[in-house]
Amino acid sequence: MRVTIFGATGLLGQALMREWRHDEVTGLGSGDADIRSPEQVRTVIARHRPDWIVLAAAYTDVDGCESHRDLAFAVNCDGAVNVVREAVRKKSRVIFISTDYVFDGKHDRPYEIDDAMAPQSVYGDSKAAAEKQIRDIYPDCCILRTSWVFGIGGKCFPDTILKLASTRQEIEIVNDQRGCPTYTVDLARTIQQLCRKGAVGTVHATNRGDCTWFDFGSELVKASGLDALVRPTTSDRFVRPARRPEYSVLSSASLRQYGIVMPSWEDATQRYIAEREDKKAPRNQVG
Ligand SMILES: NC(=O)c1ccc[n+]([C@@H]2O[C@H](COP(=O)([O-])OP(=O)(O)OC[C@H]3O[C@@H](n4cnc5c(N)ncnc54)[C@H](OP(=O)(O)O)[C@@H]3O)[C@@H](O)[C@H]2O)c1
Repeated sequence: MRVTIFGATGLLGQALMREWRHDEVTGLGSGDADIRSPEQVRTVIARHRPDWIVLAAAYTDVDGCESHRDLAFAVNCDGAVNVVREAVRKKSRVIFISTDYVFDGKHDRPYEIDDAMAPQSVYGDSKAAAEKQIRDIYPDCCILRTSWVFGIGGKCFPDTILKLASTRQEIEIVNDQRGCPTYTVDLARTIQQLCRKGAVGTVHATNRGDCTWFDFGSELVKASGLDALVRPTTSDRFVRPARRPEYSVLSSASLRQYGIVMPSWEDATQRYIAEREDKKAPRNQVG
């Protein structure tokens, strides 16, 4: 199988490049092809002729999107549509990575794949608009929504928390937003399995279980053996430009249909910390 990953230099993309086995995989960053340019997209797809495209490229600065609406839509919606149009022309299958932020966060039960989208932020709006257009152009496209992505190789919540917890005695973390953390390693493996199984339509994929940011931060600090005290607080004390959904737990029912059950977020947290430690450990010199 030939696979092309758009967004290969990002947090998820790097894990996809590390974890993907037994196939011919090409990874592209924005320097290889800017998805806003139909010509650049056409050129790379013609060159690599992929069986599957993983479309993980996006403008992911959720607060930045609020003040750069045109850029958010140009990359997240028009850029994604450019890739899907070209994929349809060249008969490549596509898995498009979307987000829990397409939902309004007002539920008190996990969001199912066919629940109505009602984004509360420009970022969520741009991804929801992409989803709608992609379904029109290519109804069998696999649209994978995930949430609270973390891993090695870029900025993410655990990295920030662990850096803070190693320099402060006390940290405060919001306890009024609930969702599902998702480790890039587990998500990359799931994406690979979904491609092999020929996934079509919308799928929700996150680590198993749900928590608040406070729960997640507490687990991180405990698992890494730091002494910092973690205190719960509320989002109104950390006002940010983009509104976040209060509750964005994604139901795993659609993933179970493919026989896939992802590890729990607590288990993923332990492995993330081990991977961080492993990266930090000095390597033996050869020779
Ligand atoms: N992070 C989360 O918590 C989260 C949650 C839910 C869903 N998602 C979705 O998961 C996917 C991966 O997210 P991530 O956290 O891995 O993102 P990320 O670390 O911000 O990486 C973004 C990737 O997109 C590429 N990119 C940006 N603008 C581009 C353009 N105009 N043309 C081509 N490539 C461009 C970047 O390339 P360069 O680095 O080379 O510029 C980079 O490889 C995205 O679709 C995102 O919306 C993320």
